[in-house]
Amino acid sequence: MEGFGHGKVLLFGEHAVVHGCRALGAGLSSGVLARATPAAAWSLRCPSWNLDVILDEPHRVAGCLEVLKRHFPTQPLAFELDASIPAGAGMGSSAAMAVALLRATRAFHALNDDEMTHLWPLAMEMERVFHGNPSGLDHTAAISGQVFEFVRGTPPQVHVLSLVAPLQLVIGLASPGADTGRMVAGFTERLHRRGAAGAGMLAAIGAIVDQATIALQTDDLPSLGELMVMNHGLLMGMGVSSAALDAACHAAVNAGALGAKLTGAGGGGCMIALCQPDTVERVRTSLLSVCSQTWHTTIGA
Ligand code: MEV
Repeated sequence: MEGFGHGKVLLFGEHAVVHGCRALGAGLSSGVLARATPAAAWSLRCPSWNLDVILDEPHRVAGCLEVLKRHFPTQPLAFELDASIPAGAGMGSSAAMAVALLRATRAFHALNDDEMTHLWPLAMEMERVFHGNPSGLDHTAAISGQVFEFVRGTPPQVHVLSLVAPLQLVIGLASPGADTGRMVAGFTERLHRRGAAGAGMLAAIGAIVDQATIALQTDDLPSLGELMVMNHGLLMGMGVSSAALDAACHAAVNAGALGAKLTGAGGGGCMIALCQPDTVERVRTSLLSVCSQTWHTTIGA
């Protein structure tokens, strides 16, 4: 039995979304494929992430197997994972894995009821194992694979956006990713410590998300690019960027990208650059001087 979870990019509003702001996310066509076979004990292998884990091991991935065992106690499964996104780099790897494991398990048990009602809360339990206080946006992207607005809640408010034309993004891996839980805690601590100034930063990100939603729906790429740069600046001000991410964003804009920002938890990991079709290769080449890997992806096709 197989299940797939999409990787994601956070277009606008990461971190602020944890505190109730609206955010814009998008699922990727790449992600994680899980194959499940009945076994004597719960286990998971993912060669491309160097993972080989059994239940009861002191490993966060074993915590996901624990969630599966609790909800599907009748038959242990052995999972073989094929991942086409990097782990822990801001592309939603843990959420894609959670959704892939759940889809494969549900396929094994022939369950095909509504995923947002029945799968989403279990993926949230798994994401808590990894990130402590996740908004739920990452596994919403892993389920949907589309471009969407998101407001956290139980259930969350999710609204799929249809774009006039697909967006051309270059993703760059600027440095190894940082721990999401630690980055969320750092943002939250500065937000509260700075009082009115912190609230102002959050309000500014909220206004950027509002304007970006209109720009996305009207294919206003220059505005989208400018808003990406503004969102990145605010994230930097809140302490969740890094020298490597800042350098990569500068390199992308200097090479002709309309805008660039970190994506996801920050502190390292990935950035995204918005391109015109004829600037994709130039931006990608330029990013290769500061990023270990780059990908060209089309969002909203
Ligand atoms: C991580 O991909 C996105 C954050 O906003 C955390 C979350 O939404 O759970 C940093």
